[in-house]
Amino acid sequence: MSNNHIELQSDTQTRPTKDMREAIASAEVGDEQGFNDPSVTVLVERVAELFGKESAVFLPSGTMCNQISAAVHCGPGDDIIAERSAHIVGVEAGGISVLARAGAYPIDGDRGVFTAEQAEAAVRAPWRYAPRTRVISIEQTANLAGGTVWPLETIRSVVEVGKRHELKMHMDGARLLNAVVASGIAARDYTQGFDSVWLDLSKGLGCPVGAVLAGSSEFIDKAWRWKQRIGGSMRQAGIIAAAGIYALDHNVERMAEDHANAKVLAQKLASLPGLHVEPDHVETNIIIIDVSASSADAATWSKRLGEEGVRLAPIGPQKLRALTHLDVTAEEVVQAGEVFATLAEGELRAS
Ligand SMILES: Cc1ncc(COP(=O)(O)O)c(C=O)c1O
Repeated sequence: MSNNHIELQSDTQTRPTKDMREAIASAEVGDEQGFNDPSVTVLVERVAELFGKESAVFLPSGTMCNQISAAVHCGPGDDIIAERSAHIVGVEAGGISVLARAGAYPIDGDRGVFTAEQAEAAVRAPWRYAPRTRVISIEQTANLAGGTVWPLETIRSVVEVGKRHELKMHMDGARLLNAVVASGIAARDYTQGFDSVWLDLSKGLGCPVGAVLAGSSEFIDKAWRWKQRIGGSMRQAGIIAAAGIYALDHNVERMAEDHANAKVLAQKLASLPGLHVEPDHVETNIIIIDVSASSADAATWSKRLGEEGVRLAPIGPQKLRALTHLDVTAEEVVQAGEVFATLAEGELRAS
């Protein structure tokens, strides 16, 4: 329970635990931009190793990882192929058109996942009048689509398309470790063939801030220039890197609990009148709840749930998104289900 409510709005809402705070307090630190911060060095080397890449760089946010990757890979007028619901397409304030001066070519996938055939069809033929297709980006897991895990075979076939057309492959791995825990497939198997891939520390891993972007040494050198340029270079960043190291040691395997909690909540919600949830589609820690068959819209649901101590946000006029994480217990998930039930069977019942 966070501050007397059940926090299902996002896995970004976790507070650092006592043990994580102790790791932060005792962190060895130095000058990050001078490559002299020992904690940052440990963290980036661990993530590079995890992803099977030559090098990695610590950044303040996942958004900055996406934006810097786009800026390194693209030139003005280039296209980035991505699924329509992807964060890089719709939730980064149009950043790719500002920094990279690139555009998005959105594909309508199935729960956030597109096929090799769709990727192939999205690659533009070289033509003086057309944008140049430059990058294929995938989001593992697909957040706004409901935390879908991209199947490894699908990823491999999309990478194959990218390589055939000499495109850069980018993976938004904000929740990549959720996919690893859910599937049992190693991170480096998912990231094979990608030119850039990153991991968010401030989501399921429970850190207060930070993300790590990995790739070839050449890519990371270029990423560092962008980091410097846009003010992402830090000083005694070991303070926050220590939380990341702690999280990699302690908070990865436990995400299975978040996935189990999400499943329990989804099953409860699916049994309630006026709510549509597909428990079989809940593969990780994200649940999409369609309220269109109830007598209220998503904003009203969100408001009433909040008043009853359950916080979660609409992601559309008729849709809510609930996320489980380190700060939500199995008991709270049951309690949240009961609050939903009271509303669904009472004042917000099916119309
Ligand atoms: C899939 C995905 N990509 C990127 C981001 C951006 O990460 P950050 O909030 O660390 O900038 C988010 C954040 O919610 C996300 O869910």
